Amino acid sequence: MGVERVQTIASLSNNLGTIPQEFIRSEHEQPGKTTFHGPVPELPVIDLANPDQYQVTREIVEASSEWGIFQVVNHGIPEEVVKEFQRVGRHFFELPQEEKEKIAKQPGMKEGYGTKLHREPEGKKTWVDFLYHNIWPQHILNYNIWPQSPPEYRKANDEYCKYLVPLVDRLFEYLSTGLGLEKNVLKEASGGDNMKMLLKINYYPPCPRPDLALGVAAHTDMSTFTLLVPNDVPGLQVLKDDHWVDAKYIPNATIVHIGDQFEILSNGKYKSVWHRSTVNKDQTRMSWPVFCEPPADLVIGPLPQLVSDENPAKFKTKKFKDYEYCKLNKIPQ
Ligand code: OGA
Ligand code: NI
Repeated sequence: MGVERVQTIASLSNNLGTIPQEFIRSEHEQPGKTTFHGPVPELPVIDLANPDQYQVTREIVEASSEWGIFQVVNHGIPEEVVKEFQRVGRHFFELPQEEKEKIAKQPGMKEGYGTKLHREPEGKKTWVDFLYHNIWPQHILNYNIWPQSPPEYRKANDEYCKYLVPLVDRLFEYLSTGLGLEKNVLKEASGGDNMKMLLKINYYPPCPRPDLALGVAAHTDMSTFTLLVPNDVPGLQVLKDDHWVDAKYIPNATIVHIGDQFEILSNGKYKSVWHRSTVNKDQTRMSWPVFCEPPADLVIGPLPQLVSDENPAKFKTKKFKDYEYCKLNKIPQ
């Protein structure tokens, strides 16, 4: 028997007006009960075209230390490039089910089309199907698990990468100089040219009970950092001062999440952000995070330049693959 996809469950649920029990989160997680509606500051928005680049660095450092997340505008990726990249991704999810299953994720593999099979500790499931594949560096790409349809899929992804890679490099530099380091330090510590970029496309179908379900449960990303573009259906929430706050949708912005590896490298100066996503009653939400990850065998720990007797290492030093293994299997680091 094939895996049950959320897209299929959604089409039945939307007719019934209810969702299966295993998608109903416990009360302390339900968005209807836990979303904060009081006055909150908005996620920082940083204009990369600001002529005062020192100020940009300062804003990025502040946002990364206090929020662990920010939105960037005027980031250099043309709007039509993002639109086309999103169009081809959405097209894939709208193909007949048997077409999508041709690139289904196999057990133990990171890449492919999938649905979370294991229930979480509390026995709950999330309202999302996804597609994972690497997009950088080019020599590791496995086009067998990329969608064959639409035919423009590959070109649209190549084009997005052409602009994304320089943006990633630029963000590495701001984050590095913001720690008082040479601009190339963080990139080198993350694998230099062997750093990997893994794309995930999240497809959250309409859900008759968005107050009870979650698209992605609360987590921090394992990456160094993650660059995400959503569609125009809001849903990302961020934990700020113990409150779940909505990230505002800003057309043409890219959302930058600080992940666990930057928290470790910066010895805690940059915070890996807790976030989750909600779903929508009538509309399909989609998002396209790109996880920037060190190569599996690279050893990551607090940068020696940032550690001293007064400021001892707050994290263990270990290979990225060992970090990943512990995180995925919920073993303490
Ligand atoms: C993720 C994630 C958030 C979103 O897939 O890691 O955090 O907005 N997604 O879809
Ligand atoms: Ni995430």
